[in-house]
Amino acid sequence: METPTMKPDTVLILDFGSQYTHLITRRIRSLNVFSLVLSGTSSLTQISSHNPRVVILSGGPHSVHAPDAPSFPDGFVEWAAGNGVHVLGICYGLQLIVQRLGGVVVEGESKEYGKMEIEVKRESEVFGKGRVGEKQVVWMSHGDEAVKLPHGFEVVAQSAQGAVAALENRERRIYGLQYHPEVTHSPKGMETLKHFLFDVCGVSADWKMEDLMEEEIKVINKTVAADEHVICALSGGVDSTVAATLVHKAIGDRLHCIFVDNGLLRYKEQERVMDTFERDLHLPVTCVDASEQFLSQLKGVVDPEAKRKIIGKEFINIFDEFAKELEKKHGKKPAFLVQGTLYPDVIESCPPPGTDRTHSHTIKSHHNVGGLPKDMKLKLIEPLKLLFKDEVREMGRILNVPVGFLKRHPFPGPGLAVRVLGDVTQGNALEVDEIFIQSIRDAGLYDSIWQAFAVFLPVRSVGVQGDKRTHSHVVALRAVTSQDGMTADWFNFEHKFLDDVSRKICNSVQGVNRVVQDITSKPPSTIEWE
Ligand code: XMP
Repeated sequence: METPTMKPDTVLILDFGSQYTHLITRRIRSLNVFSLVLSGTSSLTQISSHNPRVVILSGGPHSVHAPDAPSFPDGFVEWAAGNGVHVLGICYGLQLIVQRLGGVVVEGESKEYGKMEIEVKRESEVFGKGRVGEKQVVWMSHGDEAVKLPHGFEVVAQSAQGAVAALENRERRIYGLQYHPEVTHSPKGMETLKHFLFDVCGVSADWKMEDLMEEEIKVINKTVAADEHVICALSGGVDSTVAATLVHKAIGDRLHCIFVDNGLLRYKEQERVMDTFERDLHLPVTCVDASEQFLSQLKGVVDPEAKRKIIGKEFINIFDEFAKELEKKHGKKPAFLVQGTLYPDVIESCPPPGTDRTHSHTIKSHHNVGGLPKDMKLKLIEPLKLLFKDEVREMGRILNVPVGFLKRHPFPGPGLAVRVLGDVTQGNALEVDEIFIQSIRDAGLYDSIWQAFAVFLPVRSVGVQGDKRTHSHVVALRAVTSQDGMTADWFNFEHKFLDDVSRKICNSVQGVNRVVQDITSKPPSTIEWE
């Protein structure tokens, strides 16, 4: 699907591989300015097609002297000058500017990593007038340094060690910061970025989620012809729900959603999510109860990968059937598939130069619909592909998705199959999980935890309940804090909370006589158990 028409005040970031690149984008968007990341080696045509007002050259792990050092395309500086585009180089970006415009960058005698003090040395645009002599702490991370600036450039700040910390060429509208203004370790960094964008570049803060939403709706309407149909598999999670709600707003009931109950969902999940889909969001959803189908296929299967494969295959069979029924009913095959792909997935699939990562597939590999048969030939609609997770939640709020729903913990596609170890047909996993989650809600902890669940272990141990010896199951409680699920730490509950939950579980769930807490971070463990 094509990208929506860009606003004139777009800030484009050319990514040279810095771990902070996405942070710059987010910081700029938080100022109500639209910002996008492109690979640092994009062509001039790609760069200019976004009609940016400002281009930021990001940091990166390279030395400008490395033979394969990534760089902006020839003609970029001339194009920027000819179109009134301001250019800001950050760290590696600054060094690229210096080297490409005829200055000299050398390997620094003493590398600068971490917190440093810098001092403003002369009147400048980048720091605002009247700041000469002002000192500030910033976050540096570089080995090379600029020792001779290109013609027309001035050093406007220096580090305590005498290295160039900031430079500018007002006439050519090119600026450079050797440090990272986007990180919180540079306490005045945000102020500098704000001043740069609004006062130096004259960017206006007019980017609003409502505008982006309206543009997306226009694009969807342009993409999907009036007689075409679109399908969407709802998982019960935030991304697919917001994506479907947006598409529904655009094309109405030519959107057909399917929600599959595979028997591996949370306690009363089907009723709860269908309620939100139908009552709150008025989405056209077909709910397929395929519990028996899934559970009978999974009977006796204990290998986690085999479970995932069975679930993925069953899902595709149901999805295929759904598409065929729609074709019968409407006399036309559905042509599009809605996916809740987010911006981090898109960026992940186009890794910056020099990171040794290869291009991955754009469909989330964890998604069950990722394995759709090729002959279904569905074109993708990915209306959230420019948004970060918190922005999707904001869009959801505007679309009246209930706030409680928008804050749901993530849940894996294969559901409880990756939380009940061994044969998934055994045990009382659902009740245990519900008691744990409800206790977390009652204690007001739900929003402080990234993901929580109970794991039903296929281990029996000896106990004593009601004067009788028992030989029952062990339940492990898992709750983690995390930013994105890539790394995670275990959540530190108070003893009283754990004591209460353990009692509730053992007293009310048949076949459980022991409760333990998982106190490992990721790594070395993963969040799920299978
Ligand atoms: P791990 O266990 O890898 O989980 O630390 C990280 C995040 O991914 C989810 N997860 C899955 N989601 N299919 C999914 O749709 C899967 O097979 C799967 N395995 C893990 C997990 O819930 C957590 O949010």
